[in-house]
Amino acid sequence: MSRPTSVRLVEVGPRDGLQNEPKPVPLAVKIELIERLAEAGLTSVEVGAFVSPKRVPQMADSAELLGRLNKRPGVSYPVLTPNPQGLEAAIAAGAAEVAIFAAASEGFSRNNINCSLAESLERNRPVAKAALDHGLRVRGYVSTVIACPFDGPTAPAKAAEMAERLFDMGCYEISMGDTIGAGTADQVRRLIEATAVKIPRDKLAMHFHDTYGQAVANILVSLEEGIAVFDSSVAGLGGCPFAPGASGNVATEDVLYLLKGLGIPTGVDLPAVAAIGQWIAGQLGRPNGSRAGRAIAGQG
Ligand code: HMG
Ligand code: MG
Repeated sequence: MSRPTSVRLVEVGPRDGLQNEPKPVPLAVKIELIERLAEAGLTSVEVGAFVSPKRVPQMADSAELLGRLNKRPGVSYPVLTPNPQGLEAAIAAGAAEVAIFAAASEGFSRNNINCSLAESLERNRPVAKAALDHGLRVRGYVSTVIACPFDGPTAPAKAAEMAERLFDMGCYEISMGDTIGAGTADQVRRLIEATAVKIPRDKLAMHFHDTYGQAVANILVSLEEGIAVFDSSVAGLGGCPFAPGASGNVATEDVLYLLKGLGIPTGVDLPAVAAIGQWIAGQLGRPNGSRAGRAIAGQG
């Protein structure tokens, strides 16, 4: 399998990154973050989630955010929609793309969305259908594709089966999430090969968290397996409030640095993203989680 000739990055920092922040992040900061990321060349920036505000307070301002955002032509601003209530609110707020999400393990499904895997498929189905009927684009996520914080290792066949079920609901792409960042290269290769039997590789994205520092290696393996779409988060922000021990997503800057070295174009301006990473880390009062970003800022 040859490496792709170009890569699309899906920036998930404003959603997957910020959903885990303990202190409220001002709406003006979120908006500046998203607008600067789009200006830096990211064509897909996940901006919020229409989920229970009691469970994820940080995403409670998603409707207001979508309303105030200065949207760039050609850029997609997806939001998570777990159920019809979330979808209706997202449509009312002007969302043009939504993401449905499920897991590959019962324990995480129960903890994250309060239902079994089978129930999650039944919950997602009407959401996908109604979104498509409204002319929205629908992306799908499968979490815990390598391992679950509650149930242990995930069988690649189970992750592949869940991906196929979401794909069959009309998702244009399925993002495979190593939610707790536990995966290593050979596991990732096996996962992609098992999933590619069910879904074309050009409909697959990989979503790595960097808990064990394996995300860049896992992306290289994924590239060699023909995957051309990766989710990443500026400054390596994030984690999941329902996955104990999970750290942030792989940093966008680190992925861009890898891809630059491999000569694979992304259309994204690395120095601009590195500057955004330094800025948002300062706003949040936390160290910049991107190694490349720190090095570019002279703080490596
Ligand atoms: P539920 O089954 O109804 O039960 O919700 P619940 O007890 O969890 O929540 C019930 C309350 O939420 C009720 O309010 C509902 O009205 C309200 P109450 O009566 O208690 O006042 N509610 C809502 N409010 C606003 N918008 C809605 C909505 N739906 C119900 N859409 C649900 C199920 C999934 C909604 C809930 O469990 C939830 O919001 N969970 C949080 C899910 C979440 O956001 N997780 C993080 C994102 S997933 C992730 O990070 C992984 C990913 O990055 C990939 C990876 O890394 O693997 C995508
Ligand atoms: Mg995630």
